[in-house]
Amino acid sequence: MQPLFDYLAANEQRHIAQLCDYVRFPSVSAQAAHAGDLKRCAEWLAGHCRGIGLEARLFPTKGNPILVARTPRPKAARKGRRHYIVYGHYDVQPPEPLDLWRTKPFEPTIVGRRLYGRGASDNKGQNFAHLKGVEAYLKTGTELPCDITFVIEGEEEVGSSSLAGFLKARRKELACDAVVISDTGIPSLRHPALTYGLRGIAALEVRVDGPSRDLHSGIYGGSLDNPAMVLSQILARMKDARGRVTIPGFYDDIAPLTAYERKQLARLPFDAAAYRKFLGVPALNGEKGFTPIEQRSARPTFEINGLTSGYQGQGSKTIVPAWASAKITLRLVPGQKPSKILRAAADWIRKVAPPTVKVTVDPGHSGDPYLVSPTGPLAQAGLRALEQAFGHAPFLMREGGSIPIVNDFKRILNADTLLLGLALPDDNLHSPNEKFDLDCFTRGTRMSALLWKELASGVTR
Ligand code: BES
Ligand code: MN
Repeated sequence: MQPLFDYLAANEQRHIAQLCDYVRFPSVSAQAAHAGDLKRCAEWLAGHCRGIGLEARLFPTKGNPILVARTPRPKAARKGRRHYIVYGHYDVQPPEPLDLWRTKPFEPTIVGRRLYGRGASDNKGQNFAHLKGVEAYLKTGTELPCDITFVIEGEEEVGSSSLAGFLKARRKELACDAVVISDTGIPSLRHPALTYGLRGIAALEVRVDGPSRDLHSGIYGGSLDNPAMVLSQILARMKDARGRVTIPGFYDDIAPLTAYERKQLARLPFDAAAYRKFLGVPALNGEKGFTPIEQRSARPTFEINGLTSGYQGQGSKTIVPAWASAKITLRLVPGQKPSKILRAAADWIRKVAPPTVKVTVDPGHSGDPYLVSPTGPLAQAGLRALEQAFGHAPFLMREGGSIPIVNDFKRILNADTLLLGLALPDDNLHSPNEKFDLDCFTRGTRMSALLWKELASGVTR
């Protein structure tokens, strides 16, 4: 491994400068005006892949192009040589609100060991670490013990609508032993971790319609139901005093946390007071009987993401609003099925609604939860690479966020996913002042270099 590490150390500054070039593209997938930037970003990335010795091809889609970049297959490759996919995304979240950024989101800025910029962590920097890990093999003439294909898409932050179809159409050439993704987090540089579970997601919108127009609340108020009040009452009934979601059957199918898992999660560093302060709340509150780490990663939740009704402008306006609406996402855990939960939630909301208003429930996007064995050979290989790269014993954890596409990798390619996150808790994913820690980057490049050996030698089929 030493020549690889020497190469990575000698080229670190150049690699960081390249990552800055990558972050400079405003590849915001949610905003149509950036379609050209996404294309240019994908083309730059394809060129970059070719420059490090990969065979790269861009595939146009209805949305943004998908990049496929493979390591050249050696002539003497034996049958049964392993093949791994590294998945990542070159699209980023919108940078708004811009006034909260201390540096410009698409002018990457290095302060100490932090690289600021939208997408620096999610997901350009984390995924780039793998490109550099593989580059080390290709540029030092070190034989790769397996074939590697990078699949880097440009629609992850808007639901990956093109990728599943792409996997289906190319399932033969993408057949692989496993998928590797660095697009999750670790507690700290001293606490590297393997993520073996992700929450699923189910989105819905609830709308309450009352009077045919906004009414004078003095003249009419008191004689009819107020839609904002009704919506509040409905939403307030969705969780009980113990922090449990009240939707009938909601908890029925959940695979319980094993004693082993609870023990592993309890080993993660956690300081309740520091966590409370970091979030900026006077006190924490969650489902009774579970620790905050369990609550936010291994237990389901019902969250209001947006709530709208009535007059929001300056001053006061005395009305009974005509309508009220809420955007909701439920985070789901292994065992729960988004379609079943969405149906149960809609039924329950309609059931608790009074007959004095019209209630509409619109289901939205969804994604299954994910769970892979934390003790299987794939995980063991990941843990060995983490330990050597970070110099600390790695932890096992679950994450509360969602990467719905991992289920498509399983369904379409029958491949498990190894989640080796490189983001720190204060990386500000999806928030202003996103940054990527350059120590995470350099350890990530080494982790990637180590991983291919660990996977190829230590994982039996
Ligand atoms: N990289 C995140 C997912 C993530 C972040 C998982 C941190 C675990 C820890 C990804 O880009 C993301 O934001 N996913 C969305 C998916 C949704 C829009 C379907 C999410 O989790 O909200
Ligand atoms: Mn992401």
